[in-house]
Amino acid sequence: MKLLPAGRVIVIGSVNTDRILRCPVLPAPGETVLAADATLGFGGKGGSQAVAAARMGAATHLVAKVGRDADGEAALADLRGAQIETGAVHTHPDAPTGQAIVMVEPGGENSIVVVPGANARLTPEEVTAALARLHLLPVDVVLTSNEVPAECIRATAAALPAAGPNGGTRWLHNTAPAGDLPGPGPTGRRPLVVANAVEARQLTGAATATEAARALARLAEGAVVTLGGEGAVVVTGEGLTRLPAPAVQVVDTTGAGDVFCGALAARLARGAALAEAAATAVAAGAFAVTALGARGALPRPADL
Ligand code: RIB
Repeated sequence: MKLLPAGRVIVIGSVNTDRILRCPVLPAPGETVLAADATLGFGGKGGSQAVAAARMGAATHLVAKVGRDADGEAALADLRGAQIETGAVHTHPDAPTGQAIVMVEPGGENSIVVVPGANARLTPEEVTAALARLHLLPVDVVLTSNEVPAECIRATAAALPAAGPNGGTRWLHNTAPAGDLPGPGPTGRRPLVVANAVEARQLTGAATATEAARALARLAEGAVVTLGGEGAVVVTGEGLTRLPAPAVQVVDTTGAGDVFCGALAARLARGAALAEAAATAVAAGAFAVTALGARGALPRPADL
């Protein structure tokens, strides 16, 4: 049997500094609550997806933008320390590094407000140039999400080579924060959509997560809908697979979806079948909720 080389994971996404507030309850509109404490952490959906993929053993590249400031320098140093290839992480001279206020309640649920800053200044030209330099291969996996401008997602779609008889570079699109689904690029490539249950229902108007997953799959190459503690459901042309999650002690659900996406991309880049890769991603997402912060618990393969 001929073994294929492992593919790379290429993440196009956001980099944020997270200020994490542990709150007794999440504030309702008009309400003031007193947090137990505030801590700073590295975050941003793209940054965390990339670090999660690298932890799972993938050669990982990040296409992103930070500010020319102390947060940006710290974020870059952290990404490089995590073995991420940061040649396409740009620095904006004026816009600050993205920030997020993350409020977490004792049950682990959160509310997040993001100030995009430099993330909103990533340009489609920068994405196109980065992907051209990487010479995408059929074994590579490209991962996008909605914290960078929609034109950057369209530039990604346009840069994907046409699929050959055995498929092509895999494109995963994470619909977080909830936003429109990207249309196909000029070569007709559509993404495999990764959404949580809320996003999936918002995008499709379906009453249940399972119906939403089926509806999303019809609009894309397939759909993976995460269900929190219930695991995930995968829908492709071949049918529907339910993947249960292991029971864990939940500390903070922040970033669980990012770890899920990073692990899914890493396993697909290793040639795993989608259901098998998604099962690993469910376990990775469950691991991620056991500590505070988006990067508090990032699994290595041996942890799963
Ligand atoms: O998914 C969690 C992430 O959302 C946080 O790290 C925050 O930065 C926002 O991007």
